[in-house]
Amino acid sequence: MAPYRTLEWRDNTLVLLDQRLLPHTVHYVTLSRVEEVAEAIRNMTVRGAPAIGATAAYGMALAALHSPSKTPEELRTHLEKAATLLKASRPTAVNLAWAVDRILSRVNALSTSNPAQIFEAVLNEAHTIADEDIRTNRQIGLNALPLLPPKVTFIHHCNTGALATVDYGTALGIIRTAHEHGHEVFVYVDETRPRLQGARLTAWELQQLGIPFQIIVDGASGFVMRTRKVDAVVVGCDRVAANGDTANKIGTYNLALAARAHGVPLYVAAPTSTIDLSLPNGDAIPIEERSEEEIIAVDGHQIAPLGATAYNPAFDVTPAQYITAIITEVGIAYPPYEQSLRQQVEQAKTWREQFRRPDP
Ligand code: MRU
Repeated sequence: MAPYRTLEWRDNTLVLLDQRLLPHTVHYVTLSRVEEVAEAIRNMTVRGAPAIGATAAYGMALAALHSPSKTPEELRTHLEKAATLLKASRPTAVNLAWAVDRILSRVNALSTSNPAQIFEAVLNEAHTIADEDIRTNRQIGLNALPLLPPKVTFIHHCNTGALATVDYGTALGIIRTAHEHGHEVFVYVDETRPRLQGARLTAWELQQLGIPFQIIVDGASGFVMRTRKVDAVVVGCDRVAANGDTANKIGTYNLALAARAHGVPLYVAAPTSTIDLSLPNGDAIPIEERSEEEIIAVDGHQIAPLGATAYNPAFDVTPAQYITAIITEVGIAYPPYEQSLRQQVEQAKTWREQFRRPDP
């Protein structure tokens, strides 16, 4: 496990590692209100689809804990409002809505009318979501192993490691698992403009894991694939539509095009909580646009001419045709994804049930 905690429930508060300050400052923030949780997701104190899902689940626990509601009906209404607030904090990663809706359906299925018991059930479900995330990530890593040669060079985009999840990571988890199983691993780390999740966070994690790497600028990946041997591109995802179209950090689509042009397989690591079967294809995925400041300034220093404007979509959609395989906690999905993803989502329900925590 990582020597740091991305997020942790401690003494009825939620403690988050402030990812905006990494790698040079390790600082934790302690949150006790759901409004603070929504803001921490929005301002990217915590980021990465699975991490924000688990964070939002604990946000619901804080909402239940501090609710002024006197009756269970009032508490349910209060939790629905908290859910709406959390869901609005970042729109693309479906894990957030998935986790919050999972808490709501748990609450709606309860027969108790005692608000304290409702809080305990919400907290228990949040812990279950967090535990599942770690188990899921480890299994994704194991499921990917047969795809990898013993000496393997990756290109990796954004940050998909322990920091982007509750622990271990998804695409970075695949890299870790290969390393732990004795593969000779090397990673080209896309720096990932504009927030530099690759240069700041992935490089930090790889350093601590002792996995050799070099940072490249995002625009270098085509050249690297042409001039050096790259065996696989591995990326995470924020939402996968029913046909396999995948939203992930801006730049993933360019990377996928370059990978296809050079015959390099592109693997998407996807917990089934990131698969959204309600959307037929990627056109329907909401894409977050962030502030232009993220592009025209670096660390608060203006780099573009005064008055310059910028367009800052935080994610893009890679069409399914460029994705070699999607690796989930229950196996490897190959095209046609309409069929294989549906099967994986069904199988994951049974897989999850065996680890469910008993109700308090
Ligand atoms: O804007 P971010 O840093 O939250 O974006 C993160 C990504 O795009 C990751 O690739 C994705 O969430 C998967 S993390 C396991």
